[in-house]
Amino acid sequence: MSETKTYPPLEKIPTHVAIIMDGNGRWARARGLPRLAGHRAGTENLRRIITASVEFGIKYLTIYAFSTENWGRPQEEVSGLMMILEDVIDRELGELHKEGVQLRHIGRLEQLRPDLRQKVLDAIELTRNNQRLVLCVAFNYGGRDEIVCAIRDMIEDGIQPEQVTAELVSQYLFTHGVPDPDLIIRTSGEMRISNFLIWQSAYAEWYVTPTLWPDFGKDELYKALVDYSQRERRFGLVTPSPCAPGDRADAG
Ligand code: FPP
Repeated sequence: MSETKTYPPLEKIPTHVAIIMDGNGRWARARGLPRLAGHRAGTENLRRIITASVEFGIKYLTIYAFSTENWGRPQEEVSGLMMILEDVIDRELGELHKEGVQLRHIGRLEQLRPDLRQKVLDAIELTRNNQRLVLCVAFNYGGRDEIVCAIRDMIEDGIQPEQVTAELVSQYLFTHGVPDPDLIIRTSGEMRISNFLIWQSAYAEWYVTPTLWPDFGKDELYKALVDYSQRERRFGLVTPSPCAPGDRADAG
């Protein structure tokens, strides 16, 4: 793909895109490589997609990098994914910071090695005022775990039953302050939610593609955005609104 390729403007751009980056293992198997090679290829692709998201004017990008269930994978794969998180911070943080990317983490950090946890916290602190793209990294994240944490925190804060509203629950989630995803992309063809943003995805549009994550490049992202821009979002209402709350007209 040429660097100078231009993409026709889109009618509307989702403010928040969330991605289930699936298919790294199959990508590796098809090449006779170990699973970790697939995760490495997936990490390189992530870099391309972050840059493309900035270019297309997406404001929030959430990526599902490690679920609460992924601890059950072989030890070698689990420690490999931890190493990838560390490498990404070591190698990419400076460039991401320059590009105006704000890093956020969703999930639980306390089960990570203390030095890795600190690295994540430092990266969040360094980039906290960046505005171009908010990159939410779901690492040791599970949607059910997130809701359980929110309920516990609400009880601890002495919230009374009549005070509980959908807005309040949203404020207690790991994603507080982040708008709900407008578009959720899942690569590699599986039609599952896999414990990802189960509260926040109530009105998200889904885009599932058979393309495996390491092969899901800028052109594929653009295709997903074209598909999204043709959707009619109704939010449970009858009359379609020309522009949903999460959409912005393309800037160019
Ligand atoms: C699912 O594919 C993918 C994952 C569990 C890990 C995703 C991680 C990356 C793309 C690396 C980026 C990570 C960080 C920390 C920034 P799979 O292994 O389930 O694929 P399969 O279904 O084909 O086996």
